[in-house]
Amino acid sequence: MTDSATHALISALPQPILLINREGMVEIANQSARELFGARIQHAQIRAHLRQPEVAAMLERVLAGKSEDSANFVMATGNHETIWRVVARNGVAGMFVLSFSDISDIEAAEAQRRDFVANVSHELRSPLTVLVGFIETLQGPAGEDPVARAEFLGIMSEQAARMSGLVADLLSLSRVEAVEKIRPRTPVCLDAVLKATLAALRPQIEAAGISINYDVPEGLPDIPGDYDQLVQVFHNLVENALKYGATGGRVDISATHVPMFPAHQGPVLRVSIRDYGEGVDPIYIPRLTERFYRIDKARSRDSGGTGLGLAIVKHILSRHRGRLVIRSALGEGASFDAVLPLT
Ligand SMILES: Nc1ncnc2c1ncn2[C@@H]1O[C@H](COP(=O)(O)OP(=O)(O)OP(=O)(O)O)[C@@H](O)[C@H]1O
Ligand SMILES: [Mg+2]
Repeated sequence: MTDSATHALISALPQPILLINREGMVEIANQSARELFGARIQHAQIRAHLRQPEVAAMLERVLAGKSEDSANFVMATGNHETIWRVVARNGVAGMFVLSFSDISDIEAAEAQRRDFVANVSHELRSPLTVLVGFIETLQGPAGEDPVARAEFLGIMSEQAARMSGLVADLLSLSRVEAVEKIRPRTPVCLDAVLKATLAALRPQIEAAGISINYDVPEGLPDIPGDYDQLVQVFHNLVENALKYGATGGRVDISATHVPMFPAHQGPVLRVSIRDYGEGVDPIYIPRLTERFYRIDKARSRDSGGTGLGLAIVKHILSRHRGRLVIRSALGEGASFDAVLPLT
């Protein structure tokens, strides 16, 4: 291949590539590398551009003759960080090649996985610690005291219920994720879904002293969906309204047929669960659907929450090609709208 053909080939490669001589001077920088480092990278000293300790040490090893090596290099632009995997390969026409691959997404997924495992372990550990403690207590003299025993067993059963709730949520999350790509198509009547949800939550609605304003017009078209999963969506949304919005005394449930929803380029049903409680500071809104995210951990935990509810809601809606629209302001209650496409 001629020199100019090699040049053209390197230039056309989508990933940033640098050809570097024995002195560490950049001989060739392809288009992507010039975009990454600026045009000055051409004929510059590479050491001046890759100063982070890990990658600098790697460069020295390769300049000293090591045939292949790699290191990570973090580049920050504004508040966005890109992590590059830099691979150096020696002995190309007396020079060496540095190639860069963007591994930010892989690293982010890995971090998410670690967080998830840490969160699950943490959530299981607290009730387990309580259980172990009370089992030991009951094995001692306190076990003979019927009053203490009844009290301890009550606490133990509460903690066991917490654990089984957490495990049920985790299973349902992984089940939804497993089928997320397959859109459910059974015609589902949302009025029936909402009525079944309210019937199941009746005791909680009464305990919270909430009045429900139900405004779902008759004759709404069925949506293509999964009945049980949709019940799960509205169960969590209404339950949240009861748990976090009870001070408002009422919850509005309404559904509207929107013939043309811009984000979907087609008709949708929009179901809104609106409470008049304390609401959410808008800065927290984008995080609410993250797994295990709770604004007030202690309070959510007291009411048996694990922070998985809205994560499950989001996955189910996405399986239905729909979305969740959250609007709230502190002191003004909150509305959680499920937007479900009809086509
Ligand atoms: N209607 C609401 N008003 C105010 N805050 C809310 C409302 N709904 C949810 N939140 C906040 O969002 C957080 C996450 O809700 P999510 O349903 O995911 O978890 P949870 O209710 O705490 O636990 P789980 O649903 O697993 O039992 C809650 O802990 C709460 O801080
Ligand atoms: Mg919830």
